[in-house]
Amino acid sequence: MTRQKKTDAPAPTVPASCNAPETRATMRGTIDNLLVEERVFRPLPRIAAEATVNPQDILAARKHADADWKGFWEEAADELQWFRKWETVVDETNAPFYRWFSGARCNIVHNALDRHIETVNKNRLALIWEGEPGDTRKLTYFELYREVNRFANVLRGLGVKKGERVLIYMPSLPETVIAMLATAKIGAVHSVVFAGFSSGALADRIEDAQPRAIVTVDGFYRNGRVIPLKPLVDEALQHCHSLVEAVVVVHRAHLDVAMHDDRDRWWHDVMLHQPTEALTEVVEANDPLFMLYTSGTTGKPKGIVHSHGGYMVGVHRTLNWVFDLKPTDIFWCTADPGWITGHSYVIYGPLMAGTTTLLYEGHPLYPEAGRLWSMVERWGVTILYTVPTLIRMLMRFGTQYPAGHDLTTLRLLGTVGEPISPEAWVWFYKNIGRGQCPLLDTWWQTETGMIMISPLPVSLLKPGSVTKPMPGIDVDVVDEQGNSLPPRTGGYLVIKRPWPAMMSTVFNDHAAYVDMYWSQFPGWYFPGDVARKDDDGYIWIQGRADDVIMIAGHRVGTAELEAALSSHPAVAECGVIGVPDEIRGEVAKAFVMLHDDLPPFGGYVQADDMETELMEHVRRELGPVAVLKAVEFRKELPKNRSGKIMRRILRAEEFGEDVGDTSTLEEGPFCLR
Ligand code: WTA
Repeated sequence: MTRQKKTDAPAPTVPASCNAPETRATMRGTIDNLLVEERVFRPLPRIAAEATVNPQDILAARKHADADWKGFWEEAADELQWFRKWETVVDETNAPFYRWFSGARCNIVHNALDRHIETVNKNRLALIWEGEPGDTRKLTYFELYREVNRFANVLRGLGVKKGERVLIYMPSLPETVIAMLATAKIGAVHSVVFAGFSSGALADRIEDAQPRAIVTVDGFYRNGRVIPLKPLVDEALQHCHSLVEAVVVVHRAHLDVAMHDDRDRWWHDVMLHQPTEALTEVVEANDPLFMLYTSGTTGKPKGIVHSHGGYMVGVHRTLNWVFDLKPTDIFWCTADPGWITGHSYVIYGPLMAGTTTLLYEGHPLYPEAGRLWSMVERWGVTILYTVPTLIRMLMRFGTQYPAGHDLTTLRLLGTVGEPISPEAWVWFYKNIGRGQCPLLDTWWQTETGMIMISPLPVSLLKPGSVTKPMPGIDVDVVDEQGNSLPPRTGGYLVIKRPWPAMMSTVFNDHAAYVDMYWSQFPGWYFPGDVARKDDDGYIWIQGRADDVIMIAGHRVGTAELEAALSSHPAVAECGVIGVPDEIRGEVAKAFVMLHDDLPPFGGYVQADDMETELMEHVRRELGPVAVLKAVEFRKELPKNRSGKIMRRILRAEEFGEDVGDTSTLEEGPFCLR
């Protein structure tokens, strides 16, 4: 079924106009592998026999979409229920502020929950949840529906109105799902903040989103420890201006947390005696559903806004096509609800599809490296969608853990979030998928809302390639002037046509939306990634083109890390770059100039102490997501004429590469790294 051959394919080159290393240095290991990767994995006969979408369907869909992309998405929209149909499939009059299904009336929660209550899905399991200590909870669609209705009544009772924000600072708990759906049900906008963020990061998000209410938890279990969360909310609220009138606290970890009488309420108290029915707010398709903060090139994360109509169509279609859902599936996407993958493919997608979604609270290696595999066995998971970082982590433990469990229920595997090396791909395919499960490497972003480039189960697979765009998606690799590049040439990934689940704007900053995504190539969306095609038109993602680094698949802006470091009193100036890390893919390295008037190393006796102090400071400022692995102290830092620190030079020095042309002093985001 497989063949393996190495070739001397020429290295991908980047546009000559860009004075930067050929490929992102931090991805070097992966890219080197990709250059010689020529293994192919042909569709498996068993999978092809049961596939809903076969290769002819894919061809026909591409043809349809190329001839009439609006008609193509209209058909996808017809698979869902609407209170009133659209006047226009996509209103382009104010592009790039596209309005999908303009004039339609809907609510995603109607499709994810309400409608199932009228069908055989009513008594199916919607959610299986496993806590880290091993406690479990299962909710049928009917039970989830009733819980969501109760919490929708709570939110209404707290005065939350349509369009207002509810901030949800929670780990993977059933209440997280309930709070998100209840918020959407009443037409309010949820903003989930990953529980791994610090109180400072939370305060920034509260200040920007101005939520009316916050939902949180006393604490949760992670890696055998209890992580308190509610105290971080108190701390954040002390340090920001906010409208927050109510904080609802889920009782999870038996922590004795301080409750402010006039503001804080226990979840179980407010849920008591709530009616189990609640009206679903009828919203316009372009009314906001949620916002999610993500890192870009600037110091502050941006609130990416998604709306009900387009998002539900895009997520519903892609989940059904990529994962070819069957009524017997148990779908496990290991993402946290605090990220877009959690929104689209842990919660909204699986629930719209009427499938059973599995949620896990804790650390994937707790209490030992077989936790994931024991969960696959325990629940009979059929589809496992995860991140390359986790695969790399698990590979270290060898095959004895997966071999000790029955993984035969698995029929499809998926990955997302960062490039996967062919080695990790093949390890996952062979040892977890037993060579029987297609491995679907999906490319997309917080901003795209839905999977954009991905194989389908019947596609021919090449380890390390995200294969081809989904039908309906028009992707190209271009040079800086926007010219299409020939195969085997690295360049900028662009999306040439709007798609339904696209973000609608940046919260409170419409100009940033245009500037960050639509100004580089007018008329096309620029995701910020570098890629190349091969001779078969397969796409190979090479990494980011901007100053975002992917730490364990999490986007962290170097500017954010620099801002966090600069807030330390000893730091005068600093520059941060991404460096390779065997497990996390990438981590941050800082180059720091300390204040002159301080004794050497800021008064700390040894450089190591100051280094540790700065690493801890960054962790305190941004949370454990921001892994700063090394600090190098410098007497000066390379700067351009306007005094901006040139990360490009720091990177070239770090990797012993040619510094390139230093006469172009400006280091903008629009330059390959
Ligand atoms: C990267 C995650 C290689 C990419 C859904 C993108 C990937 C960023 C892949 C978005 C993949 C995502 N292969 N790289 N399959 N999927 N990326 O917003 O750089 O957290 O721009 O969304 O992750 O990260 P985000």
